[in-house]
Amino acid sequence: MIRLDKFLCEAVGVTRSQATRLLKEQRVTVDGEVIKSGAVKIAEDADVEFDGMSLSLSGPRYYMMNKPAGYVCSHEDAHNPTVFILLDIVSPEKLHIAGRLDCDTTGLLLLTDDGQWSHRVTSPKHKCDKRYRVWLDDPVSEDTEATFAEGIQLRGERTETLPAQMEKVDEKEVLLTIHEGKYHQVKRMFAAVGNKVVGLHRESVGALELDADLEPGEYRELTEEEIALFMPKK
Ligand code: URA
Repeated sequence: MIRLDKFLCEAVGVTRSQATRLLKEQRVTVDGEVIKSGAVKIAEDADVEFDGMSLSLSGPRYYMMNKPAGYVCSHEDAHNPTVFILLDIVSPEKLHIAGRLDCDTTGLLLLTDDGQWSHRVTSPKHKCDKRYRVWLDDPVSEDTEATFAEGIQLRGERTETLPAQMEKVDEKEVLLTIHEGKYHQVKRMFAAVGNKVVGLHRESVGALELDADLEPGEYRELTEEEIALFMPKK
């Protein structure tokens, strides 16, 4: 059992006096009932809601979002809204992004507060595939697939890109799978072969596919199975 005010401090990340105020404002329910006293003892797995959002102490959180264009992947930005304002959850500022996307890129974005997990998603050592649908300004040239499969030298990088797989969908549309995440990598790869990316959408990271039911700007929690895709095998 745990005191309700202590539970709130931990689950919401507020001070004891802020928790007391939230309770007084009748914004907290336990198993459906408004509770105003922080001294009440509750079970650690009680169904506690704050402003209708369910809270838990059960540790790390994992979400996928269908990132819309025009939102930046940082906590603050002077010019554009951030993806975090799309999250209707408690303490979104405690989450970070596992593999950022450019402001104009759309698609699968992973958000978590589990640093080890995001490290496994993003670190080159784990060679997590990322598949992008790419729309181009000019028709894709014959030799691009082979060039990307060999690796290409990007300006300012010490090493060539790792072999990447490209599949032509249309004259100006391809699927590209890369295994690392250099800065603006896809746009720079196409720039290096004289083309220009005009639209970019991430469809998958490793074995995790973007949920087709998520409209741009929507998100959902990852399932246990999806989280486990990036955990060390037992
Ligand atoms: N490569 C890019 O150039 N931009 C992205 O957002 C992701 C990959």
